[in-house]
Amino acid sequence: MQTRSLWEHTLTFFPHFLAALNERATPDATVAVIGASDGKFVLPLAAAGYRVIAVERDALALHGGEVTLPGDNRTHAMGLIDRLKLESLYDRVQVVEGDFLQGEPLDMPCDAIWTSCSWHYSANHHRPLAEFLTRMQSSVRRGGLFGAEFMMPVTQRQSLIEHYTSPEELRCHFIGDWDVLLTLSTSEFAERAHIGQLQDHTHRMGLLLAGRVSSQR
Ligand SMILES: C[S@@+](CC[C@H](N)C(=O)[O-])C[C@H]1O[C@@H](n2cnc3c(N)ncnc32)[C@H](O)[C@@H]1O
Repeated sequence: MQTRSLWEHTLTFFPHFLAALNERATPDATVAVIGASDGKFVLPLAAAGYRVIAVERDALALHGGEVTLPGDNRTHAMGLIDRLKLESLYDRVQVVEGDFLQGEPLDMPCDAIWTSCSWHYSANHHRPLAEFLTRMQSSVRRGGLFGAEFMMPVTQRQSLIEHYTSPEELRCHFIGDWDVLLTLSTSEFAERAHIGQLQDHTHRMGLLLAGRVSSQR
């Protein structure tokens, strides 16, 4: 890639999602990315040949503009759309600008859906976490793949907010139509300062991958 996401160096379980996707989906399958930001995952998915639906509420992440990076470093950041154009991937991606919780459900059920550390954003706290999950789940066709990595609570404040969750707490949302394929979680780890969190900080992250069963059980 000629361009880099501002989130490039943050820890991710994405390779586990990609491996499951490559195993289950056809090469031209459609993958929705919720909270696409400037494309850390959208670009590799599109470059791998997948069609991508990128949902993002932050105009700056989509269109680019002035951002503050660690060290009080103000710079112009490229947004998702310019990155896609520069990498000749724009044709493979449908960009949906808006709040995933507010908009219409996605036009058609996708083959897979992925989100990375999006639902804990305070803008989502006015709705139950279950609503975010149900919207994601109902966007996946039968036989399709669900993948989410998410923040687990580290501070007392976070432990009072259900959007900081764990694989164990999420499991109850994946009964009936779903088979949980993989769960992972980290211990607390140090993450270097990055856009949005300008000091070095501590995180805990979890992963849940699930497959939607092919026929009703
Ligand atoms: C931590 S950032 C993503 C960084 C990540 N490593 C990546 O590039 O995928 C999470 C993104 O989710 C977006 N987001 C959170 N809630 C959303 C919602 N309800 N609808 C659309 N986007 C949302 C935020 O605006 C933010 O850009």
